[in-house]
Amino acid sequence: MRWSSSASSPVSARPQLAGVPVYSAALASTVPVTVRASSNEAPDGVSPAVRDAVIERLACPNRYPVLGGVDLITALADALGADTDEIAVADGSLSLLNYLLLAHVWPGARVVVPWRSYEAYPICVLTTGGEPVLVPNRTDGGHDLAAMAAAVDDATAAVILCSPNNPTGVALTHDEVAGFLGTVPASTLVVLDEAYLDFDARADRARSRELVAAHANLVLLRTFSKAYGLAGLRVGYAIGHPDVIAAARKILPPFPVSALSVAASLAALGDDAHRAAIVAAVHTQRGQVSVLLAEAGLPSFATEANFVWLPLGERSRALGALCAEAGVSTRVFDGEGLRISLGDAGLPEALSGVLARFAVS
Ligand SMILES: Cc1ncc(COP(=O)(O)O)c(C=O)c1O
Repeated sequence: MRWSSSASSPVSARPQLAGVPVYSAALASTVPVTVRASSNEAPDGVSPAVRDAVIERLACPNRYPVLGGVDLITALADALGADTDEIAVADGSLSLLNYLLLAHVWPGARVVVPWRSYEAYPICVLTTGGEPVLVPNRTDGGHDLAAMAAAVDDATAAVILCSPNNPTGVALTHDEVAGFLGTVPASTLVVLDEAYLDFDARADRARSRELVAAHANLVLLRTFSKAYGLAGLRVGYAIGHPDVIAAARKILPPFPVSALSVAASLAALGDDAHRAAIVAAVHTQRGQVSVLLAEAGLPSFATEANFVWLPLGERSRALGALCAEAGVSTRVFDGEGLRISLGDAGLPEALSGVLARFAVS
């Protein structure tokens, strides 16, 4: 049965949900997408080890996974040299962000968020009943940490940092994160989202595990969606002080990750060559794309991630539309910029054709 569009439900949702924005999608196109550059994912599938592990676990879908994802937590603790009570797993790092915020943000509390950053952040904050406080990035696309620290007050429950930042690609250094942690109250939760950590090859990137050991209010978010190529299976994890992790675990579902996804992530953890190959391919393409953009005279931010951001302002939509016409899907942030995800082997050639047309249009 389909409801008629005029019939509304007599049930009311929480009033706070009225202001929650909708997670947006790639620009619609009439041309079939041949190069997918609108999602920050790995284009080349999984390793044979992961495929075999998933197929093997498919033999018994009737059985629940291990309670609490403890098998995956144990493997991660071994791999990271952490204790199991410092780790929580869930169906994606975004879910963990939701649980962490639900556990630590009281109704009406403020959550300081860099902006522009991952568009899910304000949605997560609003759905917990908190108030997102958006602090504009610096003009080079990096977080304005001084302004973010200044925005923290007694009513602030949490701060989110994203490094490398989606969608600008700019990453924080170790000293920047350490300095920031020194300025915010120890009672304010600081979430450092490291979804794109593997693509950041700088020597001075944040040694975040070291920082967690020194700051009981810091929690890291990591994911198997990007460099491990498992976006469709939805697995992420959080690392932090046992009390912070325990609070999130209280509201996590009892089986936070599906059995197939646990099998895949365990196999992926044991197959670092595949992760390294995904990262290497992104680094190569990042160089190629940055040359193409420079040759076309287009601005881009210094990216440490598997995507590149062009701060084109009002011209963003025009370039996004040209890309779409050429079968290249991208993400347009109207009036701000265009994000091109890296990885698809056809991207440099397709982009080069588009850029030639953009220059003359
Ligand atoms: C910064 C950032 N954090 C988290 C996520 C979500 O990751 P996951 O697939 O683990 O939920 C994304 C996805 O694009 C992201 O860009």
